[in-house]
Amino acid sequence: MAKGLGGWVVMVLLMGVLESASGLGVNWGTISINPLPPGYVVKLLQANGIKKVKLFDADFDVLRSLAGTDIEVMVAAPNDMLSRLAYTDGAADDWVKENVTAYNFQGGVNIRWVAVGNEPFLTGYNGSYLNSTLPALRNIVNALQKAGQADTVKAIIPFNADILDGAALPSQTRFKVEYLDQILPMLQIFNNTNAPFSVNLYPFISKYQNPDFPLDFAFFMGTTSPVNDPPNVYNNALDASLDALIAALRAAGYPNMPVLLGEIGWPTDGNEFATVALAGQYNQQLINHLQSNVGTPLRPGVFTEFYMFGLLDENIKSILPGPYERHWGMFFYDGVAKYDLNLAGVPLHSSVSVILPLSNFHLQFRISVIAK
Ligand SMILES: *[C@@H]1O[C@H](CO)[C@@H](O)[C@H](O)[C@H]1NC(C)=O
Ligand SMILES: *[C@@H]1O[C@H](CO)[C@@H](O)[C@H](O)[C@H]1NC(C)=O
Ligand SMILES: *[C@@H]1O[C@H](CO)[C@@H](O)[C@H](O)[C@H]1NC(C)=O
Ligand SMILES: *[C@@H]1O[C@H](CO)[C@@H](O)[C@H](O)[C@H]1NC(C)=O
Repeated sequence: MAKGLGGWVVMVLLMGVLESASGLGVNWGTISINPLPPGYVVKLLQANGIKKVKLFDADFDVLRSLAGTDIEVMVAAPNDMLSRLAYTDGAADDWVKENVTAYNFQGGVNIRWVAVGNEPFLTGYNGSYLNSTLPALRNIVNALQKAGQADTVKAIIPFNADILDGAALPSQTRFKVEYLDQILPMLQIFNNTNAPFSVNLYPFISKYQNPDFPLDFAFFMGTTSPVNDPPNVYNNALDASLDALIAALRAAGYPNMPVLLGEIGWPTDGNEFATVALAGQYNQQLINHLQSNVGTPLRPGVFTEFYMFGLLDENIKSILPGPYERHWGMFFYDGVAKYDLNLAGVPLHSSVSVILPLSNFHLQFRISVIAK
């Protein structure tokens, strides 16, 4: 944590072209001791021109801090709520009323997405959420419709790559057979509601789990180990993973379903490949690649909406997945930038670091209260 003359100091990257960061979102997780005041985090987002934020719940203090901004927000129902949303009458209606509709007023919160669960089919959960996720999605979708929110607010499920069968080539990849009973009706719901299929992808974890995984294939600067999947050649893991999902969607009958990349990033500690230098390079190359609109071999020229993971380090997150788990932030948990990053994906705009006293924002934002 940085300590300055007057207590905490926080650095914000001020970009030359703030508006150009549109399209890029960030995940705002809050599993920290002394999390930054939400009003301050909102200033951090605004100072960096970030227009989309993905949350992991629907915290009132966080949401009221986002009120009156034009930031697009994804609220979420956590996994431990899925069962209630699925099986308790009226629970999804109440959830939508309290966590979506209540913020829909002039000067309210620009909620665009509801995430139903978070990676609910992760293998490590042993199928705990396998049965409840689909009915929870269905109930949330119905609740959004009843509340008259369905045109502007879409329900999605942030899956992780565990839903795919891990075929050797992108074009051969399918959804895991054991999930089809759940996933096919979900696809129908997404298609009916014009919602995208959302997935979190982590080339870093491929490298972490398999030290032979070529680092240059995880990155975006060309590779000595391309994947040949005639007629396509893959030079980076992200495009290969996106096309693996797109091939699975095609095979399931949804060749045009949009994909939303819910989490992507690189950590800065906890593993020999988790360094500030590599994370800064990875994230910059990633942003440049995705914002270039080059698309993937199966979807050339198609922009994939993406959310960086994450905005801030989370210093009391479980390290069960690995010792890197608390170090995904582009900013340390106290809001200090870890590396220079041009979020707009436009080269040659140097970023300027400024020092801002935390208390100013804190005070400024104590007064913003929303009527519920
Ligand atoms: C709304 O979201 C909050 C925060 O995630 C949760 O605690 C609360 O139970 C939700 N409200 C309803 C009515 O489910
Ligand atoms: C899943 O099963 C493994 C092995 O049986 C167990 O160690 C783990 O705690 C279980 N996880 C959950 C979330 O139930
Ligand atoms: C899900 O449903 C299947 C089939 O009905 C059942 O065997 C399984 O125990 C259920 N799993 C959970 C976690 O409830
Ligand atoms: C998906 O939606 C499109 C457009 O609404 C429709 O034409 C198509 O038939 C749907 N696909 C499936 C498999 O239901």
